[in-house]
Amino acid sequence: MIVTEFGVPGGVPPAKRRGRTLETDDCTSAHARDEAEVRNGPLAGFEPQQRPSFDIPEREPLPRDTLALSKTALLQCLSELTSAETPAVFKNKACALRERIVQRPAKNGDLFLPMDPDDAVNLRRDTLVFEIDQMLDALTLDRAKYYLRRLESGLVKTRTSAINDINLLRWKEYDDIVTDSLWIIDRRDTSGAHAGWYWGNFVPQIPQQMMRRYTKKGEWVLDTFTGSGTTLIECRHLSRNGVGIELSPHVAEAAKRLVAAEPNPQGITSEVVVADSRAADIGTLLAQHGQRRVQLLIMHPPYHDIIEFSDDARDLSNAESTEAFLRMFGQVVDNTTPWLETGRFLVVVIGDKYAKGEWIPLGFYCMSEIMKRGYLLKSIVVKNFDTTRAKRSQEQLWRYRALVGGFFIFKHEYVLVFQKQ
Ligand SMILES: C[S@@+](CC[C@H](N)C(=O)[O-])C[C@H]1O[C@@H](n2cnc3c(N)ncnc32)[C@H](O)[C@@H]1O
Repeated sequence: MIVTEFGVPGGVPPAKRRGRTLETDDCTSAHARDEAEVRNGPLAGFEPQQRPSFDIPEREPLPRDTLALSKTALLQCLSELTSAETPAVFKNKACALRERIVQRPAKNGDLFLPMDPDDAVNLRRDTLVFEIDQMLDALTLDRAKYYLRRLESGLVKTRTSAINDINLLRWKEYDDIVTDSLWIIDRRDTSGAHAGWYWGNFVPQIPQQMMRRYTKKGEWVLDTFTGSGTTLIECRHLSRNGVGIELSPHVAEAAKRLVAAEPNPQGITSEVVVADSRAADIGTLLAQHGQRRVQLLIMHPPYHDIIEFSDDARDLSNAESTEAFLRMFGQVVDNTTPWLETGRFLVVVIGDKYAKGEWIPLGFYCMSEIMKRGYLLKSIVVKNFDTTRAKRSQEQLWRYRALVGGFFIFKHEYVLVFQKQ
């Protein structure tokens, strides 16, 4: 089937044009609606050859840079589009606007330059052009104006959910937020105080993604296994308040230093406490900051005895058996759950292990401990696991052992997401 763009002679095969057509659009219901509009809408009754013809702008990949534009100037352009009464006028104006955005900054002055900082709106160039392309690709004038109204709303209004700051009216700009359940993170974020020195730390992208999905600015995050303070450093980047509990005093000291080294322009609270997360008095800790609850709970426990973090018997890495490890882990969940706001999220990062040739599914065991306590499982994310430096130098030996012993080399861990009911 050849889908006809509104205002474009009906017979141009999509393959010959650079632009997309609705055939390549995965929004099938919009597709169906557009087809209905062609039958019944403003172009109904026109033979395809009678429809006005236009030059389709060439569509090269655009930079993902952010433009600071004058909201007033942009809205003025959009209102001129709204008043276009024919597809031809609409199309010409939309093409001209598209060109200005693609070419910005323009050679002879920039009409979108915000004169007043309060009038500035920051928009990603590629997503703005995409929105205009959607109008140009629409099959009918009504449909194009529907996309136009949606763009205008995104400029003047903000719609967020109760659990994060993602502006749903401009959701296309959040393509760095991962919504797939398979995460391949090939490079650790080492910006700012993130040094990656602590053996057994997680990549900052994990708390970063989770905080952006499950908290708003200024809310409170509790990390029960703070280690080198990755979560708290990320809290500073994202303007969330962070409380971290860590059993080893020297590790906690190092974390405090790292967190303090991170700029804190928003003046958020970061506190690292030396304590056993199974028994820490979290209520008092939060009350000291005038808080009763946290909005996100992050747990990155030892993967049982894979790394021995200390010789303290209260350390989960010293649990004598898998059962004892799970009991201790469950105690941490019990001690912290009352302080998590209902409806909010608990994120657990955990990997499995081998013991005496047997795969021990610590991830699924921990998942079961949490679900027993009434949490709703929201997601099991599988994340690639960076081979440790020690293992990398012995990669071939591990491969040989795997072939001999019939086992597999760990390359993944889990990011488990639960919601408190
Ligand atoms: C896997 S590491 C966490 C690493 C951290 N996410 C980071 O990026 O640095 C687990 C940490 O839990 C700590 N730990 C073990 N048992 C604990 C307990 N009962 N209470 C608090 N912390 C504990 C260990 O000392 C270790 O630093």
